[in-house]
Amino acid sequence: MKKKILVIGSMNTDMVVKTPRIPHAGETILGGIFSRFEGGKGANQAIAAKMLFPDTSFCAGVGDDSMGADYLRYLKRRRVDVSLVKKFKDAHSGVALITVDRRGENAITVAPGANLLLSPKDMAKINFSQFSHVAFQLETDLDTVCEGLERAKAAGCETILTPAPAVILPRTMLRNVDYIIPNEHEIMLVQKGYSNAADAARALLKKGVKHVIITQGSKGSLLIDWDGEKRFPAHKVQAVDTVGAGDCFTGSFMAGLRIYGDIEKAIKLATAAAALAVCHMGAQSYRPKREVLAFMRKNENLTV
Ligand code: RIB
Repeated sequence: MKKKILVIGSMNTDMVVKTPRIPHAGETILGGIFSRFEGGKGANQAIAAKMLFPDTSFCAGVGDDSMGADYLRYLKRRRVDVSLVKKFKDAHSGVALITVDRRGENAITVAPGANLLLSPKDMAKINFSQFSHVAFQLETDLDTVCEGLERAKAAGCETILTPAPAVILPRTMLRNVDYIIPNEHEIMLVQKGYSNAADAARALLKKGVKHVIITQGSKGSLLIDWDGEKRFPAHKVQAVDTVGAGDCFTGSFMAGLRIYGDIEKAIKLATAAAALAVCHMGAQSYRPKREVLAFMRKNENLTV
């Protein structure tokens, strides 16, 4: 059977205000334009993957409200398989309040609502054997993510975890993670007690994670596994909005693994997709495969 890929995670409606800078605590500043976008780390990764690999499915919790209904219609229009999305009557759909400054940097507050109601029992209902790769983040209940990872591994899937928002993770969970993709800030919170990210990454390897990929924004990314360390430079672009850039990297990386079956090729594809994504406003302003591949052809070192 031709295997699909699956993202299990959050869907949020992003309420975004563009401001000259991120306000301090207790401060009011006058911002600029307000926009509403589809977001949430899970849905962002699903859309990024879908742009590169058609057979992409998404599983999330959504409220029985107009925001949720709008979002589901949108996902269907984008032809993401949403048959695993579950509706919860007693919760609102996820919302994120986002400030984006003039350099494209952001600050985000999430009200997860129905995203947190997806339970370990919901994981037990998924037939993981139809998927080759499954990606998780941490805007979903931690026990649900643990159960999903366990079941995905047992069914022979390769698993990917974005540890965001970052928390210390149980060892029983880490042994089921093939690829963990934190940024430089997150890895220090996931694996406390180390003064640099590379040492923290090696500690995660000792706990059973197979590969650590640290995303470093405009500096690129660093792959650390038992074969050693390898740096992947980012492409220089003019960023207007970095919201969802990490999710673009992860979703595109998963699609790349499915397409090429090769980590380095997948990272190069993800690097190019994320570089293009930050040039546009909105978390899911990801570019189609032909545009990503053309961008890579123009930049010899990014060609796969
Ligand atoms: O990673 C970016 C995402 O974080 C946003 O789309 C927002 O919804 C929050 O989940």
